[in-house]
Amino acid sequence: MKDILIIYDSVFGNTAKIAQSMAYALEVHHEVDIRLVGEVFPEHLDGVKTLIVGSPTRQFKATGALDQFLKQVPAGTLEGIQVAAFDTRMTPEDVSKNKFLALMVMFFGYAAEKIAKQLILLGGKEVVSPQGFLVTGIEGPLVEGELARAADWVLKIINNA
Ligand SMILES: Cc1cc2nc3c(=O)[nH]c(=O)nc-3n(C[C@H](O)[C@H](O)[C@H](O)COP(=O)(O)O)c2cc1C
Repeated sequence: MKDILIIYDSVFGNTAKIAQSMAYALEVHHEVDIRLVGEVFPEHLDGVKTLIVGSPTRQFKATGALDQFLKQVPAGTLEGIQVAAFDTRMTPEDVSKNKFLALMVMFFGYAAEKIAKQLILLGGKEVVSPQGFLVTGIEGPLVEGELARAADWVLKIINNA
């Protein structure tokens, strides 16, 4: 049984790289289980002390698969578990190229905040603010430095716990 579980979804591979960078950073001192959302079931949460969940932002929220997974987790399951949420998203520069998109983003935001709300509703205790990591365009690659930023962010979770 691993103390830390990272669950992620990824379409073009960028969120997978961010999740993997987090796992490498944590593995120095912790036992980490990292799983694509399709390969995780509620029983994988048994014994987990810290749960980190991430998704690409797709139409201002998480992917359908990640959303569905969180919806089938029974209420209260995350009681006593530290939780943190992240997403990948377009750069502010790319968003601002399209005025309509910029307005929609202003109103509807990104996936990480919504994932965090779901985790808290399930009983989780948020230990750091949700975080977004930037991709170039739609398919990436990740903006330079984002893998290192992901590693730094995830270590804050453990240090705040
Ligand atoms: C259908 C679709 C919808 C998207 N919606 C958003 C969005 O609402 N906000 C945003 O910042 N990026 C959006 N993006 C860009 C994705 O966030 C980007 O493709 C993703 O971060 C890449 O991660 P992945 O490689 O793990 O799939 C969208 C991309 C696609 C293809």
